[in-house]
Amino acid sequence: MLARWAYISTNRLKAADIEERIQQIVNVSVPRNRALNVTGALLFTGRRFAQYLEGEPSAIDELRASILRDPRHEDVRTIASGAYSHRFFVTWSLAYTGPSQFVAEIVDRSLNDTLEKGDVSIHALVQILSEFSIGGRG
Ligand SMILES: Cc1cc2nc3c(=O)[nH]c(=O)nc-3n(C[C@H](O)[C@H](O)[C@H](O)COP(=O)(O)O)c2cc1C
Repeated sequence: MLARWAYISTNRLKAADIEERIQQIVNVSVPRNRALNVTGALLFTGRRFAQYLEGEPSAIDELRASILRDPRHEDVRTIASGAYSHRFFVTWSLAYTGPSQFVAEIVDRSLNDTLEKGDVSIHALVQILSEFSIGGRG
């Protein structure tokens, strides 16, 4: 049985050295997620993070504990969690980091819609993440 966890959070990193700080997150996440056999995608718009993680329940619990206490973001809102039958993603990747202001605004608007509608819009979030994801879908 697999578990998944999807959330949207609010960025607390300052604009100055943001690319470097995101790269630090990726540098830790890629080997750790691989070791835990966790796949998914992380998206960053400048204002918000959105992430989808899937894998063994114990691995997801472990990562969730780390991510929830991470001071680089706040207001972590779960969009979906719990048991799930199959993987959407074949790897874990950084899906998008917002180099384009235009795209970032569209994504932000879509994330706001998801937050307002709650659980129903997990499909919209998976859609956004997989559209931008480099690793592709499972
Ligand atoms: C938005 C965001 C997403 C993150 N995603 C992951 C992730 O997918 N995998 C991971 O190992 N760490 C991720 N991290 C980093 C963890 O919060 C944590 O710093 C790191 O895993 C080390 O864990 P520890 O603080 O429990 O030692 C993320 C951090 C942030 C702010």
